[in-house]
Amino acid sequence: MGVRFSYPFLLGVEKEQEASKTLLDSCGARYESFLASLRGNEYPQLDMPEKMLQDVLAIQEALKGLACETEEVVIVGIGGSSLGLAAIHSFLFGHLPYGHGGLVPAVNKRVRIVEMPTEDDISGVLQEANLERTRFVVISKSGTTLETLLGLLSFLDPLRQAHGDAYIKDHFLFVTDPESSALLSFARGIGARTFAIPGEIGGRFSILGSHMAVVFLGLLGLDAAPLFEGAINARKAVLSLSAESHVPFLLGSGVYHGLSRLSKSIWVMFAYGDALEGPMFWLRQLVSESLGKEGLGVTPLAVKGPSDQHSILQLLEDGPDDKIFTFFSLLPRCPRGEALQRVPEEFSSFSFLEGKRLQDAWEALWQSSYLSLASKGKPASWMGLGESTLEDLGVFFWTMEATVIYMGTLLGVNPFDQPAVERSKKLCRALLGGSGLEAEQARIEELLGKHKTKSIEV
Ligand code: PA5
Repeated sequence: MGVRFSYPFLLGVEKEQEASKTLLDSCGARYESFLASLRGNEYPQLDMPEKMLQDVLAIQEALKGLACETEEVVIVGIGGSSLGLAAIHSFLFGHLPYGHGGLVPAVNKRVRIVEMPTEDDISGVLQEANLERTRFVVISKSGTTLETLLGLLSFLDPLRQAHGDAYIKDHFLFVTDPESSALLSFARGIGARTFAIPGEIGGRFSILGSHMAVVFLGLLGLDAAPLFEGAINARKAVLSLSAESHVPFLLGSGVYHGLSRLSKSIWVMFAYGDALEGPMFWLRQLVSESLGKEGLGVTPLAVKGPSDQHSILQLLEDGPDDKIFTFFSLLPRCPRGEALQRVPEEFSSFSFLEGKRLQDAWEALWQSSYLSLASKGKPASWMGLGESTLEDLGVFFWTMEATVIYMGTLLGVNPFDQPAVERSKKLCRALLGGSGLEAEQARIEELLGKHKTKSIEV
């Protein structure tokens, strides 16, 4: 099933008939050159699923015994090293696994993701989990991200004291750059299992470009192959069909048109269903870090339907006209739940609900917001994701990665770096007294001085 994309209002309602032609005229040549680079394997990020698929069996085999002995998985990582896994978790199991996480009944295991640890996160794991049957997966491409290091160190100290070094070796797994990373040296030093985020793959592209999903799903006893197969199929479709049927072309060019021709600056991602919450946070990072640089980019605003119809929709529809919209919903495979049998007389004006399922109402809810915005001339599109299978999610991940990389070529920015993130990592190390950062420390002193003199207390 994959993803379905609908775009009659992509450029605003008046342009309904002309969307693909307008976009072909304005962006067709640049899309062709993106395709040529894709064909020439110039984007390792978009080619990795094939390579990863080759490793799935061996890794799953190696983890089989461990998976049987595991009833809790604690992921320690942040940004590109957590968002993709959170997206998989929420898409498959319907909720985000941060902090205390939750039980996954389908596999009878518990998952938690710890990004920046709190004392509660640490004591929660140490006191609640069956530590003998808990695995910690520490993920960091650079191996030097402070939050992740703190997560590792905060678990390491008490566990080492209570259970000794052998426990750490057997219960901690590491996913990091296979060439050089402090984390890699540490993991090798203690003889723990290590898995790769290959050199050319940056954090936010690592869900399809590294072993992290294979390790995570392997410990849950699940097969990661469909994730990569979905991505491979999405790539094949883009290389065989014509541009007018490519989501990366239509969506990427459409959003770019909104930015460059209609003076929009915010891309609202309006997603319906808890399962889509993780994928939207993943997408928000992908768009922000890949495109937001050199004064350019688009601000992604992830919004949750239908709850946010009762908080932010008013502003989105009648406030500043600076937004482009994409609605996301799930494509159910079959009718679910019971139809309502009877609506009491007191609610006779709602008697139309008789015979309807909850699922019908979910459909009507996203459609009403979408159509309402479209009828006011707002640029709006819709993407449906096949429900709850890894293969569909693989299609989504790949499609959005390709869309964002293509948009990087339209904007003329490098979608693969994140200088501002690196600057803030450095400043944080400087604040905590890291060495070799004297210039940063002096600047911080100066700014903090001002910050303190100009503060008031109420
Ligand atoms: O996409 C990126 O590169 C970043 O968001 C990183 O994923 C994030 O900063 C975490 O970095 P690392 O995986 O090196 O710990």
